Amino acid sequence: MVRGNEQGESEEPLLPGSNRISGLSQNNSDSSLKKISKFRLTLVLTFRTLLVLAMLLACSVILGTLYYRPRASRANDGIRVPLNGSGVGRLPFMGYNTWNAYYCDISETKVLEMARLMKAHGLIDVGYNYMNLDDCYSEKERSPSGDIIANKERFPSGMNYLTSELNKLGLKAGIYSDSGWLTCQRYPGSFQNEARDIKLFQDWGFELLKYDNCAVPFDEVIKEGMVGKYSRMANAIADLAKSSGKPPFLFSLCQWGREQPWIWARRFGQSWRTTEDIGANWRVLSSIINQSNSFIAWASDFYGRNDMDILEVGNGDLTFDESKSHFTAWALMRSPLLISTNLATASKETLEILKNQEIIAINQDPVVGTSITPFRWGINRYWTNNGTHPAQYWSGESQNGTVFMLVRLVPFDSHSIIPSDPNIPQLNVLDHPADMTFNLTESPWIRAGRQYSVRDLWTHTDNGTAVRNFTARQVPAHGVVALLLKDAGDEPPGTQPPCARPEWCVDQNGTRIDDIGFGTQDLGRRGFFAP
Ligand code: GAL
Repeated sequence: MVRGNEQGESEEPLLPGSNRISGLSQNNSDSSLKKISKFRLTLVLTFRTLLVLAMLLACSVILGTLYYRPRASRANDGIRVPLNGSGVGRLPFMGYNTWNAYYCDISETKVLEMARLMKAHGLIDVGYNYMNLDDCYSEKERSPSGDIIANKERFPSGMNYLTSELNKLGLKAGIYSDSGWLTCQRYPGSFQNEARDIKLFQDWGFELLKYDNCAVPFDEVIKEGMVGKYSRMANAIADLAKSSGKPPFLFSLCQWGREQPWIWARRFGQSWRTTEDIGANWRVLSSIINQSNSFIAWASDFYGRNDMDILEVGNGDLTFDESKSHFTAWALMRSPLLISTNLATASKETLEILKNQEIIAINQDPVVGTSITPFRWGINRYWTNNGTHPAQYWSGESQNGTVFMLVRLVPFDSHSIIPSDPNIPQLNVLDHPADMTFNLTESPWIRAGRQYSVRDLWTHTDNGTAVRNFTARQVPAHGVVALLLKDAGDEPPGTQPPCARPEWCVDQNGTRIDDIGFGTQDLGRRGFFAP
């Protein structure tokens, strides 16, 4: 389209009907005149084409700019790769996270000190193999070119140094960002920088990303709900895995259980927080147990699980019994296990809890990935949603047998008896040790007619053989009993009554055992099922 110039034409505007060719020789033949007029036509068309093209270009730039903003905020048009074949995050991840121990007061020195202590205390050997930075590791502003910058004061040697030191100790490194404009502590979030940030994190040597939910952009910008919001980084992770040929980041969604992540987050990542932030006190722990798992335990399995939050073992004023209950519940419910206490001052008891390998083995079971579930609430009726009195009797499958958790989740102060005589001190009926008994077949995983050997996962002893039922003696308030029951063959011949569970238990001749006076515990059902 520059033929005019090739022909030595002047650069004055080529408008239709202009006399720009009037200076040509009068001697031109008809054919050359034809050629010229054809040429002129071409020039005119060329100019029009250019003009139209220019206008089109201008329009598309304007429209494109208007359209691009909201579109750029959209969730990359759906879900791409669920990455579960990668092997990353098949089991609950274990490691250390800086938040509960240090909040924003983190540094290269502290992180490396904790990492070395993890090694020294044998925590890496029992499976804690991630060291995860939480919020506050960066500068408040991105670099002029748009990258997150490691905080220069707190991480003076840079992130590559940090991750390579961690790797040398046998740890993988995890990092944190946010799906909004800013993190919860107002450092840069990754919204609209997903691909850039995840690439940077990979270049820095990280392999896990915890992704928070603060500073959500205005509706007119985000044009997405929670699912779309989280798919942005999930897709960036999938794309990076593809382009780099490296394993995908382990993606840990921290969305506090809002909008039911247990329903949708499995397609994006390997864990999702189910509750608001944890605290180092019994009330919060029991409310997480109630909320996180009494009703949504089904959501946890290989490659995706309820994240009950970073452990508080070793923190606050949690007693030894409370810490044991906390650790047992988190592990048996297949939550990620992230230590977050100052390991330089950790007590012998704290380390003993964190290193209980029989409990860890259930959490890390390579054959069964599902959580324990409640089979009896105890104080409350079945299916009661009660943050201070959650279910107390739980069981679940494991590769080596059926695992039971009996936990006295009662708060010290909630069942006080207020005596009529004000001079008599208030009695608390539930803060004393108490026996906890259950019938084995209350658990769906136990076979009727069989007996079971009982292994105590805290005392590390074999506690005989259970036939029909088991009683844990004198469980302290807030205490826990964790048992592994293994099938030990048929129960002794003649064990009576003939059915452990009376309801709808029928002899060949049609006689029902509950019709011949066995117990009263299921009378309600008896009425319901009566022929
Ligand atoms: C919260 C999150 C905490 C911690 C904190 C950092 O949203 O639940 O675990 O990451 O942000 O600011």
